[in-house]
Amino acid sequence: MSSKSRTLKAPDMDRVSSLLSAESKRFVSSHPVSKKLHQQNLKQWMYGVPLHWMSHWPTPYPVYVRTAIGTSLLDVDGNKYIDFALGDTGAMFGHAQVSVVRAISDRLARGSTMMLPTEDSLWVGKELQRRFKLRFWQVATSASEANRTVIRLCRMITRRKKVLVFNGSYLGSVEETFAELDRSGKMAQKNRIYPNAMSLKDTTRLVEFNDLKGIENELSKGDTACVLTEPIMTNIGMVPPMKGFHEGLRLLTRRYDVPLIIDETHSISAGSSGFSVANGIKPDFFVLGKSIAGGIPVAIFGMSEAMFKRIRASLPEFSPGDPPSTFGFGSTLSGSALQMAAIRSTLSNVMTDSNYRRMISGARKLEAGINKAIRRHCLPWHVTRIGMRVEYLFMPRKPRNGGEAKKARNGRLEAFLHLYCLNRGILLSPFHNMAIVCPDTKLDDIETYTNVFSDSLDELVR
Ligand SMILES: Cc1ncc(COP(=O)(O)O)c(C=O)c1O
Repeated sequence: MSSKSRTLKAPDMDRVSSLLSAESKRFVSSHPVSKKLHQQNLKQWMYGVPLHWMSHWPTPYPVYVRTAIGTSLLDVDGNKYIDFALGDTGAMFGHAQVSVVRAISDRLARGSTMMLPTEDSLWVGKELQRRFKLRFWQVATSASEANRTVIRLCRMITRRKKVLVFNGSYLGSVEETFAELDRSGKMAQKNRIYPNAMSLKDTTRLVEFNDLKGIENELSKGDTACVLTEPIMTNIGMVPPMKGFHEGLRLLTRRYDVPLIIDETHSISAGSSGFSVANGIKPDFFVLGKSIAGGIPVAIFGMSEAMFKRIRASLPEFSPGDPPSTFGFGSTLSGSALQMAAIRSTLSNVMTDSNYRRMISGARKLEAGINKAIRRHCLPWHVTRIGMRVEYLFMPRKPRNGGEAKKARNGRLEAFLHLYCLNRGILLSPFHNMAIVCPDTKLDDIETYTNVFSDSLDELVR
C-alpha cells in the first residue's frame, strides 16, 4: 500500500462496530474460566469487581490474572500477554521486581506499620530532596489522597477556597477536579459523576491547558488557593505544554501568590527526576503516586521551604501536652515501615538512570513503529512520547488543550484496537491508547506489539 497515493482518512465506524463484535466473540471463546469467575463475582462485588475501574476494559468481562512478572502476564485460561499497561502505571517499572519483592518481604517479616519512623526514612527523605529539588516531604497512600491533602494545606495557608485545574485533566478521586467545559464553554460536572454535596462554583476554576490569558483572568479574581496540574496532560490523550507555557504559569502563580502543585504520577515516565526537573519547572508542591513503591499503595508529596514555613505558621508542630489533635490529613498506614522499605528499594534499584536510558531507548523504537504503521495506513493520527510512555491519538497533530484532545477520542475505535491487541497477547491500558516500556520490555516485545498494531490497522482500512 503506497501512502503517497492516498489521502488521510478516518476509519469507517460501521466497520469498526462489526470488527469490535467479532473481537468480542473471539475473546469469549478464549476466556471461559474468566467468564465463570466473573459470573460468580457479579453476585458479591459492585459491578462484579473489587474496583470499578477493573470493569472498564474493552472486554465483555475482565481477564482474571494468575501471575504477572516483569512484563509477562498469565491469565486463568492459560493465555499469555506482554503487558504494556502495567497496572495503568501502578507497575510502571515491571511487575514483581526481584529487589523490591525482597525488600518488601524482609520488612513484612520484621513489622510493617508501627506509627513510628524507621531508619529507611532517612535515606528516602534525602533521596527525594536530591531527585525532586524540594525540601520537605510527606507520604500518603495514593496520589488521590496526596492531592486532596495538598489542596487542603493550600487552602489553609492562602485562606482561599478554589482550585484551578485544566479542562480534560484527571488528578485522582478529588471532588474539586471533577469539572469539564461543556459545549458552550461553561464549567460543568464531569460526565457521569454525581455532583455530591459540593458545588463546583464554590470550589473550582477551570481553564484550558496552554491558555495563559484564561489563567490570568481566573487568578486575578483573588479566590484561588492553588493550581493543580500535570506538567504535560496525560489523561485525555497527551497534551504537551506549548513553548513558554510553564514559564508563564509560574510567573502568574507567583504574581497572584497562588501555590503551584505539579502532579508527576504519570509524567515520571520522562526521567528519574520527572518532567519538572528535566524542564526547569519549579513547583511549590510536588505529588507522585502509583509507581514509586513497586506496586504497594504509596504516594509522596514534597514542598518548598517557603511553603512549609507558611504551613507551620498556621499549624505549628505538635508538642507533648498539647490538647489532642488530628491535624485533618494523613492516613494511618502512610509513611509505614513497609512503604519506606518499598520506596527505598524502588528508588535505588529500579528507578535508576541506567534503567531509564534503556526504557527510553525502547520507547523511541515503539514510537517509531506506531508512527510507521499509522503513516502506512494513511490515518490522520499522531503519536506522542514522554520518556518511556507512548500514546497515539486520533487527530493529525498534537492537541493544544484538553478540549481538542477530547474531541479526538473515540470509545468504539479504542475498544476495537485494544481488544484486537489483547486477543493477540498484547495488553494495553483501557483508559488510554498508551503503552509503557519498562526495564523488562524486550525489543522483540516492542516489535510484536507494533506488528499486531499494524495488523489491526490492516483490518480497519481494508
Ligand atoms: C495524574 C494523576 N494524578 C493522580 C491520580 C490518582 O492516582 P490514584 O488513583 O492512585 O490515587 C492519577 C490516576 O490515574 C493520575 O493520572
